[in-house]
Amino acid sequence: EHSLTADKPLAGKSALVTAGPTYEAIDPVRFIGNHSSGKMGYAIAEELLRLGASVTLVSGPTHLQASTGINKIAVQSAQQMYDSCAQVFDRSDIIIMSAAVADYTPSNPATEKIKKKAEDFSIQLKKTTDILGTLGACKTAKQTLIGFALETNNELAHAQDKLVRKNADFIVLNSMQDKGAGFGTDTNKVTILSRQGDINTFELKSKEEVAKDICKIAITHQQAID
Ligand code: CTP
Ligand code: CA
Repeated sequence: EHSLTADKPLAGKSALVTAGPTYEAIDPVRFIGNHSSGKMGYAIAEELLRLGASVTLVSGPTHLQASTGINKIAVQSAQQMYDSCAQVFDRSDIIIMSAAVADYTPSNPATEKIKKKAEDFSIQLKKTTDILGTLGACKTAKQTLIGFALETNNELAHAQDKLVRKNADFIVLNSMQDKGAGFGTDTNKVTILSRQGDINTFELKSKEEVAKDICKIAITHQQAID
């Protein structure tokens, strides 16, 4: 039926989405985390499902629930998030990395609870795997790879740099200028940069509406490949 494919333009396509924060263990009871709510990534996963895609959502700890039609993989650490993504990356047509992945993780997490002793205390950290960058390096021309960026200064230049460095097709830049945008809020204001050099600035809108804008771009990119 013709109207069915128009309704579900991503039927037959597989999508991979990351969402939420990561928790990096310091010891069995403590971690390094961040304030990501996961709302943006979950909204993207729901929209991709609605558009007919087969969706895997690799999620850090959040308070959110995903529709039963979504294959949700719950993870904690950046390493676990990377491992889960690496398993499905090759068979994913659309990959959207909205997670707020920790850049550093404790080098030697303690196996027992750390006791309070000295006045000064420090934890040695090491870099995590850059999931977007690592997957970007293995990306094929048939895949649509979309990353996010949140910057406080020289926003466009930093986002442009991430686009190239991580070999993404698009970077969704979260505007910090607007009070209604970003962590914990229900709205977002984004600028989407493409590898072709397009810069598309959108109005402040709900994360569900932002998800629609992002998915439209992914559909257009996939249609150009097919
Ligand atoms: N990202 C990732 N793995 C990491 C760090 C980031 O996949 N270890 C992804 C994020 O999900 C996002 C994009 O890379 O899609 C950009 O994240 P960001 O933190 O802005 O970039 P970084 O390269 O970590 O640079 P910095 O934090 O120094 O700005
Ligand atoms: Ca980072």
